Amino acid sequence: MNRTNIGSLIVIALFVLALPEGTDTAKILCFFPTASKSHVLGAQQLLKNLARRNHEVTMVSAFPLSKPVPNYRDIYIPIEDSFSAMMADFMQGGSRSIATIMPKVLSASLDYTNFTLNSPEFQQLIAKERFDVAILGYFLNDFIFGLGALLKCPTVVYFSAGMSQINNVVGNPQEIASVSHILLGNRNPMTFFDRVKNTLVSLVEVGVLGYVHSKTKPYYYYNFPSEKGYPSYEEAKRRIPLQMFNWYFTQTAPRPLLPNTVEVGGLQIKSQPDPLPTDVQTWLDGADQFGAIYLSFGSNLKSSNLRRDKLEAIIRTLGRLKQRVLWKWDTVHMPGKPANVMIGQWFPQDDILAHRNVKLFITHGGLGSITEAMYHGVPIVGIPMFGDQDRNVADVIAEGWGVSVSFEELGEASLTAAINRVLSNPEYANKIRDISARFKDRPQSALELATFWVEYVLRHKGAAHLHYQGADLNFLQKNLLDVLAFLGVILYAVFKLIGFFLRGILVLICGKKEQPKSKKA
Ligand SMILES: *[C@@H]1O[C@H](CO)[C@@H](O)[C@H](O)[C@H]1NC(C)=O
Repeated sequence: MNRTNIGSLIVIALFVLALPEGTDTAKILCFFPTASKSHVLGAQQLLKNLARRNHEVTMVSAFPLSKPVPNYRDIYIPIEDSFSAMMADFMQGGSRSIATIMPKVLSASLDYTNFTLNSPEFQQLIAKERFDVAILGYFLNDFIFGLGALLKCPTVVYFSAGMSQINNVVGNPQEIASVSHILLGNRNPMTFFDRVKNTLVSLVEVGVLGYVHSKTKPYYYYNFPSEKGYPSYEEAKRRIPLQMFNWYFTQTAPRPLLPNTVEVGGLQIKSQPDPLPTDVQTWLDGADQFGAIYLSFGSNLKSSNLRRDKLEAIIRTLGRLKQRVLWKWDTVHMPGKPANVMIGQWFPQDDILAHRNVKLFITHGGLGSITEAMYHGVPIVGIPMFGDQDRNVADVIAEGWGVSVSFEELGEASLTAAINRVLSNPEYANKIRDISARFKDRPQSALELATFWVEYVLRHKGAAHLHYQGADLNFLQKNLLDVLAFLGVILYAVFKLIGFFLRGILVLICGKKEQPKSKKA
């Protein structure tokens, strides 16, 4: 045999070895009821990859693919977007307090999910068809955990963010002493007072989770009534073998995770960018001299809803720059659009951030955007608007690869200063280069990893062996309080017994009633 033959044999052998063993092609359902497109993007990439591997994939969501893909079917269930009024209010500078937003977001999420679940399209689908595994898109809608019993198949939970209240579904330990709460941002190491704060926030969270639980339960029992043989809400949660988070440990301080919690941070990011639309490509290629800036408030907030003074300040600032700007703008026309600004209602953000000439990303600081900027090594100017965006942007500043301008202080002077600071100071770009390298350096890509685990659950028929017993324990059991109490009682009884016998022996030896030792001496 000559060298080429051996070479090709090795290639074939490697190829055969790389094929998943024993995974037949399967029918995979993804149930993802949300009004927020950015949450769905990662799941879409995963499903496309599963479809490429010959699985038959069905996506139930409000966001069908723009271009059809073989083996990938969309069940399109549009949901009335009750978030849009809230989003428009943020762009006007309305209240961003978590206490007012949270109940609204929760009830909208619960209603979307309930609506999708009860839609004729979905009901017809599950009446006709069986699935081998279901991927459940999570967003404050815990009652979807009942879908496993409805569909009679194993389920994998996917959440497009990181640390959250579903961390504990599979029993991940909540290390209050050493892991900073999601609301407090990335703190490592924590000082004594950080730990005090962490403790207080975690206590408040217990109350909040109780509230969420009480709101969610009626939806669960409406859709999965016990009379019809469905497991209880608590039991349904316990049956989840695996959860995936769109999050990677380099984005925060290390924390303990079980093997059934898989970090697929950057799942939505393509390792090889798609070709850009021609006009965008030309625009960015032509920015060789000064570079280009990408500006987007994400998939939910509409730039055209910005309060007028803020909008005009941004437009004036951009118009004075030498850089070319791409602005995700949601209407056809932008009043007073400067010549160096190109607008578009939809831009492939991931592919744009991958372009060599993009030097700065002006962003609202949504997790998806922050992750994509991190992956592609683009420093940011953050204008956080609501939810986790304040924290995301604060983390970026702490890590040294961006600056922020709050909505309140947003004006021509502050924005110009922020942009110039990031563009003229190489520190920011250098910093994000290192952080990007750390984020990308993994044994396999997020997409390969997520694909592996979905197929793993398929291969092992639900992979019940992934279940962690810690998830079933109550507070007393988890903290060993019951065991300590039991041992305490035994210890007490033993001491009592020993005392009793010693007294008995003393009585035998001395032959009389026990007396104080001093008298004997
Ligand atoms: C869920 O949706 C159904 C059907 O639209 C409705 O009848 C029911 O009241 C909803 N459940 C809750 C808890 O809102």
